[in-house]
Amino acid sequence: VEALKIGLLGLGTVGTATAEILQSPERRNPVLNDITIAKVGVSNLEKPRQVQFPEGVLTTDLEGIVNDPNIDVIIELIGGLEPARSLILQAIAKGKHIVTANKAVISRYGEEIYHAAEQAGVYVFIEAAVGGGIPVIRPLQQALSVNRIQSILGIINGTTNFILTKMGAEGSDFAEVLTEAQELGYAEADPSADVDGYDAADKITILATLAFEEQVNLEDVSCEGIRQVSAVDIKYAKQLGFEIKLLAIAQRDETGLQVRVHPTLVPKDHPLASIDGVNNAILVEGDPLGQVMFYGPGAGGGATASAVVSDLMNIAAMVKTTASVNPLMKIPQHPAGQLVPI
Ligand code: NDP
Ligand code: HSE
Repeated sequence: VEALKIGLLGLGTVGTATAEILQSPERRNPVLNDITIAKVGVSNLEKPRQVQFPEGVLTTDLEGIVNDPNIDVIIELIGGLEPARSLILQAIAKGKHIVTANKAVISRYGEEIYHAAEQAGVYVFIEAAVGGGIPVIRPLQQALSVNRIQSILGIINGTTNFILTKMGAEGSDFAEVLTEAQELGYAEADPSADVDGYDAADKITILATLAFEEQVNLEDVSCEGIRQVSAVDIKYAKQLGFEIKLLAIAQRDETGLQVRVHPTLVPKDHPLASIDGVNNAILVEGDPLGQVMFYGPGAGGGATASAVVSDLMNIAAMVKTTASVNPLMKIPQHPAGQLVPI
């Protein structure tokens, strides 16, 4: 079987964690044995790196990577709008499949990108763009697609949930916790995207477009962040039986689809009230399913790389013609009749 060759754009928090997984296939799914990193694009060749590559793999020529005829899949992890959007479109035009975690690009240019991909006959996978490591995109596209979705309520920004949690638990200073979130690799390159709610707006735009099967425009999403929320607000809210959470909401009612992001008083017995730290949760209500909640780490290198690599494995499974590639893990069988503690 010929190896699937990857062009990795970006070697920051998520790119590094992705490369770490791809460079240690013996610890992971055997599908990864048939995947190799051919080129890695960065902006600064002098920066010290946690992962090492053979001579010539690391480059600042990102256009060269997307135009390289030997590369099959581009993993875009540079973030931001440009050059990310143009590189994705160029790669698609060259017949390459795309994996991206870039919700800013997908929320604005998703329609253009998917249209181009359809024309070129390539796949675009975006599991890491919403909810970090939580599988939520594919369930919405597949397992839940038979349902008529009524609402999505989500905590879908890890940085702000981390900040609100620490301010509430420790009375921490907003700026200090934001710095901590940046050091942990949770925040966007420009963290105002997190604190002002724009990152959550990007993500709910993507989720709502998938769930409600209509193009939701980012401009129609009303958005307020957490800058006005103080530790005292959180303390009093707690005393009254609430948690303050930055919620992203998409709801269908008789007037149409409402999509918004804002700090919300969440009653303590609500499933979203206990979602702490960098965790995210997405509560989807549909008919006939009822409610289902997706929960897990919403940001961070390792968690997000897990979603990136799962997309890559799906592409590998779809493009390979031999039976040797099967992304379905063998599920270990547990001996019958034994109760095991969790
Ligand atoms: P980082 O800022 O940590 O890394 C960005 C990487 O891209 C760096 O390696 C940088 O190069 C490279 N880069 C940026 N711009 C250019 C350019 N113009 N030309 C060449 N290289 C460039 O970002 P993250 O890893 O945190 O995020 C990457 C993407 O993943 C973003 O879209 C983000 O929204 C998304 N995401 C991030 C999550 C997280 O927890 N961090 C979670 C989910 C999604 P250099 O190293 O030389 O500076
Ligand atoms: N900055 C984002 C967050 C990264 O904090 O949720 C994950 O998309």
